[in-house]
Amino acid sequence: MEKKLKGIILAGGMGTRLFPLTRVTNKHLLPVGRKPMIMHCVDKLAGAGISEIMVVTGPEHMGAIVNLLGSGKDYNCHFTYRVQDEAGGIAQALGLCAAFVNTDHCCVILGDNIFTAPLTSYVQRFREVRDGAMILLKRVPDPGRYGVAELSADKKRVLAIVEKPKQPKSDYAVTGIYFYDASVFAVIRTLKPSGRGELEITDVNNDYIRRQTLLWDELPGEWTDAGTFESLLKANELMARAEQDHA
Ligand code: G1P
Repeated sequence: MEKKLKGIILAGGMGTRLFPLTRVTNKHLLPVGRKPMIMHCVDKLAGAGISEIMVVTGPEHMGAIVNLLGSGKDYNCHFTYRVQDEAGGIAQALGLCAAFVNTDHCCVILGDNIFTAPLTSYVQRFREVRDGAMILLKRVPDPGRYGVAELSADKKRVLAIVEKPKQPKSDYAVTGIYFYDASVFAVIRTLKPSGRGELEITDVNNDYIRRQTLLWDELPGEWTDAGTFESLLKANELMARAEQDHA
């Protein structure tokens, strides 16, 4: 039987790498192409037929995010908002969504991930998965900036993921687009903070690898994060091109 999939947009963090752009606003409200950054994630989830979406952000700019997105009726969606009190990492933010997801599956997007491919086919594929998780990988020239996946020789399985490795084992970066079953919340409860004091999503994904239930696919089209000045510029260029193609 197909599972129901709920959407989650993680839009917390201090945006320190973009200071002073983020002194008075949230990173995810900065412009990318013709829209605030976070609206691209909403478009992707809504475009893939996901209508129940939770948005997690810090207390400082929740008001502005709610002002921008509203109830979701403009997108034929229903938004639920959740405050992350302190910047404790991506996995901690995801942990706040346990009651919202309940026994369904979820598709999680990091709010600063900008990409051109639709999510429809992945959402459809994961609805048919009974239990496990799925990540989307992208080959990049600078893998050390990301979580990096080591693949088996036949490329069917992910053997391990290392967060920002000094000597990357491949050029496959883990994008901020993740699919989980509800067992993710039990995993998150067992995590300990990493060296940077955060609950790491890479530790979550490695737990699925240990249980041999992590699927992966390659994200086609263009992809970037937008958390640094360089990548924010790249995200704008990418979206400007994509929007022109659809004008
Ligand atoms: C996070 C994840 C990393 C992933 C990246 C994608 O990194 O920890 O594994 O590759 O998002 O955008 P961060 O942006 O927190 O440095």
